Amino acid sequence: MKEDILAELKHLREQLNHHNYRYYVLDDPEISDAEYDRLYRELSALEQKFPEFITPDSPTQRVGAAPAKAFNTVTHTLPMLSLDNSLNEEDIRAFDDRTKKFLNNTSDIEYVCEVKLDGLAVELVFENGLFSTASTRGDGVTGEDVTNNIRTIKSVPLKLLDSNGPLPARLEVRGEVIMEKANFIKLNESRDKKGEPQFANPRNAAAGSLRQLDPAITASRPLDIFFYATGRVSGITFFSHMESLLYLKKMGLKINPLTEICAGINKVIQYHQKVLDNRESLAYEIDGIVVKVNQTDYQQRLGVRSRSPRWAIAYKFPASRETTQITDIKVQVGRTGTLTPVAEMIPVIVGGVTVSRATLHNQDEIDRKDIRVGDWVVIQRAGDVIPEVVEVITSKRTGNETKFILPEKCPVCNSHTVRLEGESAKRCINLACPAQIKERIKHFASKNAMDIDGLGEKLINQLVDKNIIRDVSDIYFLSKEHLSNLERIADKSAENILTAIQSSRNRSLDRLIFGLGIRFVGEHIARILVKAFGTLERLATATTDELLAIHEIGPQVADSLVDFFANRENRGILNRLEKGGVTFRSAELKTVSKILEGKTFVFTGALKKFTRSEGERMVEDLGGRAASSVSKNTDFVVVGDSPGSKAQKAKELGIKLISEAEFMEMIN
Ligand code: IVH
Repeated sequence: MKEDILAELKHLREQLNHHNYRYYVLDDPEISDAEYDRLYRELSALEQKFPEFITPDSPTQRVGAAPAKAFNTVTHTLPMLSLDNSLNEEDIRAFDDRTKKFLNNTSDIEYVCEVKLDGLAVELVFENGLFSTASTRGDGVTGEDVTNNIRTIKSVPLKLLDSNGPLPARLEVRGEVIMEKANFIKLNESRDKKGEPQFANPRNAAAGSLRQLDPAITASRPLDIFFYATGRVSGITFFSHMESLLYLKKMGLKINPLTEICAGINKVIQYHQKVLDNRESLAYEIDGIVVKVNQTDYQQRLGVRSRSPRWAIAYKFPASRETTQITDIKVQVGRTGTLTPVAEMIPVIVGGVTVSRATLHNQDEIDRKDIRVGDWVVIQRAGDVIPEVVEVITSKRTGNETKFILPEKCPVCNSHTVRLEGESAKRCINLACPAQIKERIKHFASKNAMDIDGLGEKLINQLVDKNIIRDVSDIYFLSKEHLSNLERIADKSAENILTAIQSSRNRSLDRLIFGLGIRFVGEHIARILVKAFGTLERLATATTDELLAIHEIGPQVADSLVDFFANRENRGILNRLEKGGVTFRSAELKTVSKILEGKTFVFTGALKKFTRSEGERMVEDLGGRAASSVSKNTDFVVVGDSPGSKAQKAKELGIKLISEAEFMEMIN
């Protein structure tokens, strides 16, 4: 009796999962929709009678999770990296040259070419074949738990196909959640009818739909997914990227059919052109191709930079262009006081997004392109970047256009502006300029810096205008009264903001340094500085020479740092930050493991598996030090063929000699 019911339930689930796969993954259904619905209702009715037999992989379990209050955060086992961009043939050839040089390889490299999907990156985890969790990319290290939302996407299998043998205990797989163009248009039409705001483009629609606290809303949106990479997979090593994709495909995960192997960079360029030619006919939006080195051991040798791998690159399509008219030119004052002219234009849709403003960069740029108010212009937008004016359509001039000249005084604080030597920008040099203060605070609170949720532009504007905060340190002395007295701030949101401020007190040191907005100090440099100095006190007292001794720190960065810390006002801000409870200690950088910390390596002899500079980089990436000569401070000497005097010296000093293979073993 019970066995019969269990068998019937199992049979129905298997059938439904199979037809689901045929329909949503293979796009090749075997039965009609009506037949599918009949099977589904049958299963659903039987499960209602025997709820104790419902399993998590049942097709009825896609929807039904209760709305969440907030998303939990998930730390990715392996960081989810992003990609470097190449924008033209020259860039992509340079990538190929770099790759070959790094690998010490003269023959063609085998690449896998894929379309670059314009959606939202996610990671899914399958445990023993069963879908278990899913998260967004987030900042690459941690993302948001969107398990219940991903479960509603029909092309996501709740159970992997096991016809090819045992499934891994844990499979992490990465892909892009997208919305097809036609579905996006339909969704916007129906939102319009209901008086709801429209999504700007399919990507925003996909992201907005996935990041819903109520999975029922996500379920009602037509989302789809393509998988393009593995994370950690227990018990399996792949020899190539293509092999890993085919493995995913065999398990029922949807792989993009346009993926191809291209031997050599010329084939890659042909692929790019072919995909570009067919771009419009695709059901979904893409903004370029992704080129990945196929061989896994090459990938390992090439390694990763702080945010992107050396073994892959995006090769973007040219930006979309449109024509419109400039109605006005306004001046914005940035974080460092730069005056940026911004064109206001009659709104036009460029590459699916409504654009009404474009940066004009600086006066030189305006003069060079002879841009005037009233001009008709060609504008372009590439990916997420701010739209730009490409050229003026002079044939459309009527004579009523007016020239524009950047003001001599700051339009916000009325202070004098200067144009520093060698710079194209005019700057307001009044550090107390409200526009600069606002921008500095915005930067400090932003996602990749101190990540203070809720402390956004509008709130910052009010706080600065009311003189409640004057610099970033004041954030840490805000009280509930300060916030509740502001417009449109309810008690609850004041509390939320204070909670967010509280958690930002413990952000890692590199984020704090980045957040300070020191010129030329981006996220990458901030991490290098933390690695080199460990504490803010040490960094603040570093001399130019000490800074210059660090790999990747040049004179511009060094000078900027020394100037920053020499400034009395800045020192005051740092003091107050510390008083306000902000930690100045260095937390471990999460993305790198430091297994070679404190160890010094020297490479000698002819190496076969990697070049000397590669070896040195691997050592540094893992927290160790690479030296060029052997001394009593050396811990290991890695010897290749026909080693010379260094190996001899190491022997004399009693330093451990290891082979390339032993070295690889050590770091794996
Ligand atoms: S691979 C280590 N492949 O592009 C490589 N990414 O700029 C990591 N994307 O966050 C990504 N299509 O959202 C890869 N075929 C593809 C992709 C792709 C779109 C997105 C993804 C990623 C971003 C990186």
